[in-house]
Amino acid sequence: MKKKDLTIPMEVYADAGELGPADSLLLNLAKEATGNAYAPYSGFRVGAAVRLANGETLTGSNQENASFPAGICAERVVLSAASALYPGTSVTDMAVSFYHEGGNNAKPISPCGICRQTITEYELRFASPIRLILGGNSGEVFILNRAADLLPLAFTSAEMK
Ligand code: THU
Repeated sequence: MKKKDLTIPMEVYADAGELGPADSLLLNLAKEATGNAYAPYSGFRVGAAVRLANGETLTGSNQENASFPAGICAERVVLSAASALYPGTSVTDMAVSFYHEGGNNAKPISPCGICRQTITEYELRFASPIRLILGGNSGEVFILNRAADLLPLAFTSAEMK
């Protein structure tokens, strides 16, 4: 038996003011997209924005349902839009933000487990990493160079070969 440590490389910025213009723009789009969330059950409004390899940007937000499991996270909404509108184009970056009335909005959130699986599939499909820019309304911003870093030991299509 041998032991192995898995590490997640990431950059931590003190606030969004430290970001370059392209990242700052995408994070702002994600913040704005929280306004389009349909989150009457949780009150937790999430916005996601992607940049595609062709330079286009798209946004999405969480869409909840009275049948709770039918709800869908912002990250999967925007990736579904990207895949539907630009099926042959890779996604290079994704920003995620949120607004929670009465909550602490001065910190980043990171994608849930199902979204990590979905974003990882998108990376593998195009053999191209998706940078993640994670920031709340204010406070620290985390940047990861590839979403797959958030899902070590992922189950992928390679397992089914
Ligand atoms: N949610 C997202 O949209 N993205 C995340 O990364 C975390 C959670 C949504 C799902 C649900 O509508 C609400 O936030 C509370 O979990």
